[in-house]
Amino acid sequence: MMRIARTIAELRGFLENLSGATGFVPTMGSLHGGHASLVAASRKRDRVTVCSLFVNPRQFNDSADFRNYPRNEAADLGLLEKNGCALAFVPVADELYRGYDPPPADLGRLDRVMEGTMRKGHFQGVAYVVRRLFELVQPERAYFGEKDFQQLAVIRQLVRSEGLPVEVVGCATVRDEDGLAMSSRNVRLSADERAAAGIIYTAMVKAAERYAAGISPHEAESEGRRMIEQHALFTVEYFEFRTRDTLVRLSRPGHPGPARLFTAVQASATRLIDNLEVREQQQPATAPPGRD
Ligand code: PAF
Repeated sequence: MMRIARTIAELRGFLENLSGATGFVPTMGSLHGGHASLVAASRKRDRVTVCSLFVNPRQFNDSADFRNYPRNEAADLGLLEKNGCALAFVPVADELYRGYDPPPADLGRLDRVMEGTMRKGHFQGVAYVVRRLFELVQPERAYFGEKDFQQLAVIRQLVRSEGLPVEVVGCATVRDEDGLAMSSRNVRLSADERAAAGIIYTAMVKAAERYAAGISPHEAESEGRRMIEQHALFTVEYFEFRTRDTLVRLSRPGHPGPARLFTAVQASATRLIDNLEVREQQQPATAPPGRD
């Protein structure tokens, strides 16, 4: 039977009695198939899987967004138990934050682009809580979805810069049938928005194909944006090709290393983010001057 710890003392008590490699899946609840895939990935490798459910106020730069974030603890605990989680940690902010005041994390420049500029302080808030949870749970491995690829890059950087003894494992995005990436925020889409939202993935796949075929990143970005914004329901905040590890914007065709395409799209009551791996360009078309 799954254990539930609501205090740090309870967590410590349960952890003492668990033996073997611990895999950790930190979440903010409102769980879906994407989270279940993280638990499954841990269960394949670790003897014990611990999950946390905690909507972390520090990573919200907008208090209305924090208040409206979907919450459903009973369903979440049910999903975790069904998927074989051994221990759920469900802390409260007062106890988790009390007396914990480390200096800001060194996130390189990874928090200066995309979500970092749209949501000031967001990644420091994520780094704060992830570091705190790692310290308490002391997992061998921790699992994060590639859907939040920038977050994954930030957490890898946090682990490197602080020398934390945790292996960070990135897991593939889980998508609905029309390609929409599973997200806790999808429940806030209207019926019309949900029906149209598959266009985000379709536009990303198309733009990635066009880029791989040799057109400039700028052209492929403009085409992708236009495809999404054909739907008056959506406004594209960004739609950008970037290097995979350093998140630097691609400016010319023919970028040699691994790259990804990132997007954020605003619907009426929620923002959707997504990203996709991009195949390297084999034969760039005649290279127009770069756009720096
Ligand atoms: O991805 C999330 O759900 C959150 O950002 C995380 C990693 C659990 C930190 O609150």
